[in-house]
Amino acid sequence: MPAALIEAILDDARWAPSWSNTQPYKIAVASGELKDRLKAQLLARYDASVELQGGSLLARAWALVTRRGLPDGDFNTRFEYPKELTPRRRATGFGLYAALGIAREDSAARKRQMRRNWEFFGAPVVMFVFVRQELGAYSVLDAGIFLQSLMLSAQARGLGTCAEGALGTWAGPVREAFDVPPAYKLLCGLALGWPSDHAVNAYNPGRADVAEMLIPEKRG
Ligand SMILES: Cc1cc2nc3c(=O)[nH]c(=O)nc-3n(C[C@H](O)[C@H](O)[C@H](O)COP(=O)(O)O)c2cc1C
Repeated sequence: MPAALIEAILDDARWAPSWSNTQPYKIAVASGELKDRLKAQLLARYDASVELQGGSLLARAWALVTRRGLPDGDFNTRFEYPKELTPRRRATGFGLYAALGIAREDSAARKRQMRRNWEFFGAPVVMFVFVRQELGAYSVLDAGIFLQSLMLSAQARGLGTCAEGALGTWAGPVREAFDVPPAYKLLCGLALGWPSDHAVNAYNPGRADVAEMLIPEKRG
């Protein structure tokens, strides 16, 4: 991807509003060899984590010592979903696997699809988004607005994106590759490329109605 195109998208996104205009985020961009190196290192971590899931008690204990296969991200990406949000999450997951022709019980195929996250879905460019943690939820909010601006700019230029919370799971290889200021924490990543006609790109999980989003006034 031409460097000028990446720069143009970042130049659009930098105009995103933020708390007191602090712009409390930084972006690391990888393409070419660096992207391939990061992909290999992150995939090795994902594979180790899958091995661990099916591993014996001893293997799990050993992983606690070596940290192999365990997340080393700055934020927890494997949280318990609130009960109320679980149906949407499940519906989106089932819809995605159905679009890909993956049966519910085919856990090997699901893992292969999950693995695509750390292949950046074949995109030529991957970005990593870092935030200053001291601003709490507000730096994350600012980064979200920035990311949406970036995604809209990319789309307007004929590109496609996938925000990737999954890329927050392992920070080690990213910190080794980039000179990240220690106060900046890895929030998520983003795959950037040209959209293909793959079935996954036709999948649209839709959204809840406005009525469902609105909080009703208290009565009585
Ligand atoms: C903060 C954030 C993190 C996301 N993380 C992932 C991810 O790790 N892997 C993935 O395939 N999609 C990820 N997505 C994409 C969402 O799953 C997707 O936007 C949502 O299901 C709605 O689908 P749509 O954008 O195609 O309408 C993420 C989106 C956001 C905004």
